[in-house]
Amino acid sequence: MIARIFSPQINPDFQAFRKERSIICLRIGAKICVPFLVLGLLACQPVQKPELKGEGPLAVVVPRGTATPEYHAPAAKWQVGHGQAINRGDFARRECILCHSPETGCNKCHQYVGTPKIIVPEASLYWGNSNGK
Ligand code: HEC
Ligand code: HEC
Repeated sequence: MIARIFSPQINPDFQAFRKERSIICLRIGAKICVPFLVLGLLACQPVQKPELKGEGPLAVVVPRGTATPEYHAPAAKWQVGHGQAINRGDFARRECILCHSPETGCNKCHQYVGTPKIIVPEASLYWGNSNGK
């Protein structure tokens, strides 16, 4: 009796049933998984963010050859804290404009994150009316 239970011989009907069942499970699994996989892949497509050295319309542009001031370091801290530094009065927006065009250096990112637009009237002297590159 016990030997029968552990015997490797399984009823062929049952074997066929198991085979079929596993195929059905695979099919259902695929039906569920594939859309998620596709969505996952879509989500992994490069999304354009305002990034220094980024690409596309949101790229933050600093003209090549511009020196990086000491107070930008560490960069991660500056990225987060430059607003506070300006609001504290450590820096004036006008200083930033010497190296950054408001349009391509500040506002692409500000628009994206929802921070007020940087407007410096003097900027047009440096960057032209288009505030271009
Ligand atoms: C890479 C993105 C990015 C760039 C580029 C950028 N900023 Fe910001 N800025 C932010 C973020 C994010 C905040 C909000 C930080 C916070 O909540 O304290 C901010 C906040 C500020 C604030 C404070 C706004 C307020 O109302 O409190 C000022 C002023 C500011 N930025 C000036 C500038 C200037 C000037 C430039 C260009 C020379 C610039 N930023 C470029 C991301 C950026
Ligand atoms: C002397 C030129 C110069 C001045 C003045 C200057 N910057 Fe910059 N800034 C740079 C350069 C160059 C970079 C790029 C640094 C790099 O390549 O890592 C940069 C990068 C940044 C970034 C990071 C952008 C990103 O996407 O990571 C922010 C934000 C920024 N500057 C804000 C300001 C603000 C605000 C001021 C005024 C208080 C200011 N800068 C003044 C030259 C300058």
